[in-house]
Amino acid sequence: MTVSDWIRPEVGALTAYHVPDATGFIKLDAMENPFSLPSALAPGLADALAAASLNRYPDPAASGLRDTLRRVAGIPAEYDLMLGNGSDEIIQVIALALARPGATLMSVEPAFVMFKVIAELTGLRYVGVPLTADFALDEAAVMSALARERPAVLFLACPNNPTGNLFDLDVVERVIRAAPGLVVVDEAYSAFAKESFLPRLGRHPNAVLMRTLSKLGLAGLRLGYLAGCREWLAEFDKVRLPYNINALSQAAARFALTHHDVLAAQAAVIVAERERVATALAAMPGVWVFPSEANFLLFRVADADRLFASLKSRKILVKNVSRAHPLLADCLRVSMGTAVENTAFLSAVESSL
Ligand SMILES: Cc1ncc(COP(=O)(O)O)c(C=O)c1O
Repeated sequence: MTVSDWIRPEVGALTAYHVPDATGFIKLDAMENPFSLPSALAPGLADALAAASLNRYPDPAASGLRDTLRRVAGIPAEYDLMLGNGSDEIIQVIALALARPGATLMSVEPAFVMFKVIAELTGLRYVGVPLTADFALDEAAVMSALARERPAVLFLACPNNPTGNLFDLDVVERVIRAAPGLVVVDEAYSAFAKESFLPRLGRHPNAVLMRTLSKLGLAGLRLGYLAGCREWLAEFDKVRLPYNINALSQAAARFALTHHDVLAAQAAVIVAERERVATALAAMPGVWVFPSEANFLLFRVADADRLFASLKSRKILVKNVSRAHPLLADCLRVSMGTAVENTAFLSAVESSL
């Protein structure tokens, strides 16, 4: 007997999600908020956590947290709200609910890698439609792929990862109208973008909106949410495992969200840093910076592998995406850190080029 006799071949073909060890590095590879909660809030957080009943299962519906989220994010009462252990889990829940034999999950390429990984794991056929060379939605290509493949679900991240740009929301709406199945608009980076799909959601019964608190400063809590009409969310809620949001995450998130102004102020600093770093990078010879509405920048250089290695030797960790897709040739992705970290990154790039 060998393990591979029993493991599903799709699982055997995968490699486990690898997170490089960042000990001792300036960590600019994972789109985290570089700022922690201010220490003045620590006693309040400690009280909130101490009050959680760890001997009991958590509130399975996380009602208190959902109410807080609704208020802070301005989610109208007409939409249902489902929480996930990170938006990764929500993607998995949606895929599991839609994975009828032969069904298709579609996204664009390059996009967030988990769309494809979760499609493969849940037995959905995956189809990726390439973006244009400047990473816009290729409307004609998406339209013909929708007609040809008839996907059960289309995932569109706005802003997109790893490119950072926000798709034209008028095009997104036309795509949703043409989609035969569900469209998930993934706004993981909405805190840094100048426009949201939320005001348009009500026009589209086949669209849902997914967000995460990870990029806003709460990555350690693992909390994502899905907003949309009850018909879809009631089905997805059957797939969600009970108690998927643990009691400490519920308590900490409720506490942090009652101080949402602090997180919003941090996001504003990150956006200002993004503009400063983009301008400085673009002024360097041989560096091409792509427009970003997220908390990271994608940029192209003559030799991404060489620059990545040089930054690493200077203890700066960015993400080398140059082999992830042909459209990303010689591209690196840098998440925004503190002003000091970003300045260290810029001078390391300058002396490496
Ligand atoms: C576009 C997009 N969606 C979803 C996620 C997953 O976020 P989380 O599982 O931390 O909520 C990410 C993370 O990088 C992302 O880039």
